[in-house]
Amino acid sequence: MVDFNVNGKIAVVTGGTRGLGMHCAEALVENGAKTVVITSRKPKACQEAKTHLEELAQKRGLKVEIISIPADLSIEQECENFYNEVAKKVDKVDILVANAGATWGAPLEEHDVKFVKKVVNLNFVAVYHTIKLFTPFLEKAASQEDPSRIIIMSSIASLTTNDAVGTYGYNASKAAVSHLGKNLAVQFAPRHINVNSILPGFFPSKLANGLLEVVGDVMKSTNPRGRLGEKEDLQAVLIFLCSKQANYVNGITLPIDGGAHLNTPAAHF
Ligand SMILES: NC(=O)c1ccc[n+]([C@@H]2O[C@H](COP(=O)([O-])OP(=O)(O)OC[C@H]3O[C@@H](n4cnc5c(N)ncnc54)[C@H](OP(=O)(O)O)[C@@H]3O)[C@@H](O)[C@H]2O)c1
Repeated sequence: MVDFNVNGKIAVVTGGTRGLGMHCAEALVENGAKTVVITSRKPKACQEAKTHLEELAQKRGLKVEIISIPADLSIEQECENFYNEVAKKVDKVDILVANAGATWGAPLEEHDVKFVKKVVNLNFVAVYHTIKLFTPFLEKAASQEDPSRIIIMSSIASLTTNDAVGTYGYNASKAAVSHLGKNLAVQFAPRHINVNSILPGFFPSKLANGLLEVVGDVMKSTNPRGRLGEKEDLQAVLIFLCSKQANYVNGITLPIDGGAHLNTPAAHF
């Protein structure tokens, strides 16, 4: 029997208030984490997500501390404040899920440079900054047998060059974070921190729903598995990558997309 779990771990999930970040936070709560820290910009969303995760833990008969701290990670000072607030509550971190992200899509002629900067700033620069801040804490929790884990939420958009809706900054930012993950995987391995990137295909969420309304049917019909991603698809991979058993898995970029990146539909322009 193989029992994948994150028993006793302290985890931080950025953008953990909804969507894929919430799926990750729920999985960590349900699979043994001792403490789960979540963050996003909106205080109300943070509070509601904290209550939801506490109720989930209670329902499962688990004792999990949920900490929620509002912060805009794309603003350097707020990212530092977030780290400082976490450091007041825990003294190490076993798992960092760098998930917070945003997108913008428009044809090149209408795609202002400011949107590219905004997306790259959150999806790449803020991920770099968050990892930089938390590295000493991850190192404190790390061991040869069970390294600490950084999970970067990249995207299959990092692999494909078939940009159907003009997400120029998004696709490049995801290729950049995947590269950062590989770069750090090599540098951090001697410090016993594993770095892996997850590359989701299309999962319903606030970020993806606009696009799914327009091209959702095509996404399903061209997907080799014939469907969109579901919460459990992501949760299983996250818990595996964070488990003791995956301690030799380092530096990967793992698509969770039913094979969609091998069969992308033709661009519309
Ligand atoms: N859904 C998909 O199909 C898909 C596919 C591939 C990759 N991804 C990646 O998965 C990650 C999560 O996406 P999602 O689909 O779950 O999107 P989502 O539903 O829009 O969730 C994004 C999360 O990030 C937070 N956030 C946004 N801007 C932030 C900022 N400046 N500082 C801190 N937190 C911020 C949001 O909360 P606030 O608004 O309160 O800040 C929210 O909690 C992203 O990196 C995305 O690129 C998603």
